[in-house]
Amino acid sequence: MKKNNPTLTSTWKNLTSHFNKIKNIEMKQMFADGKKAEDFTISWENFTVDFSKNRITKKTLDLLFNLASECNLQQSIEDQFSGEKINQTEGRAVLHTAVRAEKNKKIFVDNKDVVPQVLESRKKIKRFTDDIISGEIKGSTNKIFTDIVNIGIGGSDLGPAMVVEALKYYSSRLKTHFISNVDGDHVLEILKELNPETTLFIVVSKTFTTQETLSNAITIKNWLIKNLGEDSVINHFAAVSTNTAEIKNFGINPNYVFSMNDWVGGRFSLWSSVGLSISLSIGSKNFESLLKGARKMDNHFQSTPIEKNIPVILALISIWYNNFFKCETEAVIPYSEYLKKLPAYLQQAVMESNGKNTDRNGQNISYQTGNIIWGSTGTNSQHAFFQLIHQGTKLIPCDFIGFSDPLFKENKQHNKLMSNFFAQTEALMMGKTILEAQEELKDSSLSENQIKSLLPFKVFEGNKPTNTLLIQKLTPETLGSLIAIYEHKIFVQGIVWNIFSYDQWGVELGKQLASKLLKEIEEKDPKKHDDSTNSLLKNFLKL
Ligand code: F6P
Repeated sequence: MKKNNPTLTSTWKNLTSHFNKIKNIEMKQMFADGKKAEDFTISWENFTVDFSKNRITKKTLDLLFNLASECNLQQSIEDQFSGEKINQTEGRAVLHTAVRAEKNKKIFVDNKDVVPQVLESRKKIKRFTDDIISGEIKGSTNKIFTDIVNIGIGGSDLGPAMVVEALKYYSSRLKTHFISNVDGDHVLEILKELNPETTLFIVVSKTFTTQETLSNAITIKNWLIKNLGEDSVINHFAAVSTNTAEIKNFGINPNYVFSMNDWVGGRFSLWSSVGLSISLSIGSKNFESLLKGARKMDNHFQSTPIEKNIPVILALISIWYNNFFKCETEAVIPYSEYLKKLPAYLQQAVMESNGKNTDRNGQNISYQTGNIIWGSTGTNSQHAFFQLIHQGTKLIPCDFIGFSDPLFKENKQHNKLMSNFFAQTEALMMGKTILEAQEELKDSSLSENQIKSLLPFKVFEGNKPTNTLLIQKLTPETLGSLIAIYEHKIFVQGIVWNIFSYDQWGVELGKQLASKLLKEIEEKDPKKHDDSTNSLLKNFLKL
């Protein structure tokens, strides 16, 4: 991987002068001047990705492609897929793509082909899933399982929770729950709903040292023992981790242990055994389709020239706004309630990956990196925060994700949902001029003076950029492709920004302090902190 400051490349200079030329041009003017949507749209499988409603011209894209080339993007993609240790600060390969690779692929880490092991792990997930769903594997009182609880946090929770919610329509007979926060009240609230005899708990933790996950697992283990006795643990717990020693200490049945590899990062791990709860929730066939969808996108990403490459284009457009328009945030708006957890999932994926202020040379960075990701489903978000996107003072590029077909045949509301989907991107771009607003008010019963004073509030600047991802239908396969688009987008941005996207040192400091503080809290003996923290602790401890 190259380790160049992107802002010192010759293309960056060209992009800066190009930006100064086009920054004030209105998108609607570009269309009026002959910009064609088809030149800024990619049709791939069941996806239509329209990025024409952006403040870009063909020249912008050409320059951004040059930037990607100057940053050696193509070679970096190869390095990632072939198992190079591109996560240099942790000395690891980055191979979530291997976990979903084709059977006949060969991918080497430390001179060892990892694919046979991947296939073995997939087989084990399938067997376990089929046996739990069919009732072949039962609980300690010989009852079939009805409920699954995933105990994990961060990447060991957000991906599986998002996918299980997204694919609810394809559910198996099992009900899946997620416990992540170390908030004991939440754990106890969920336990209230569960019958210990028919519940299987899956402890998911790559390290098996995460405070939240272990605390929740221990609370639940005690609850289970209280209800069904010590011997039940072996029948009611499964685990996913790289830390086999700790799993053994916990007392988990070795047949119910699913391994992980250090070359799959937590936030990219839903495809691996971390996705066990997904497989149980939608069945092994659907889980395979999810992997297949991601694999198809991997092939597209790896083999399509950057000019037609969906993740590359989305990444570069995002860099354009982040580094030239100085946009701080990006919103993701899925027009499907099934995707309500996508923004939260992407927050970890994007922000834990690219929220870095040190470059690959170990130097402090002088330009903007990771975007702040936020969002919610349409149309709910229209009635919540869209006011700010339409008429606020901040420029917020948005991804609109929608589906041509609803899942239920009897769904008669889909056109209403989708008319909002199309209306919003059009409104964001076109806005409403003072003349248009005046024309609208002409026929109202308001006086001329009233119209005059109301007019400024009725104007929409427009020129707000959006990408539209129109997908045929929400299926395990299309969802797999969609997630993989965002994964690869993250990678491309990290390469251009000259950062390491696959470590997360920034989460450590808080963890260290929390464990010190826990001791002080439990001993009711606060040590010397800053004045604010000490006074809060005194208040909390009633000292
Ligand atoms: O706190 C950050 C983090 O390390 C994430 O990167 C990870 O997904 C999460 O914690 C959970 O870690 P583990 O799977 O090891 O419990």
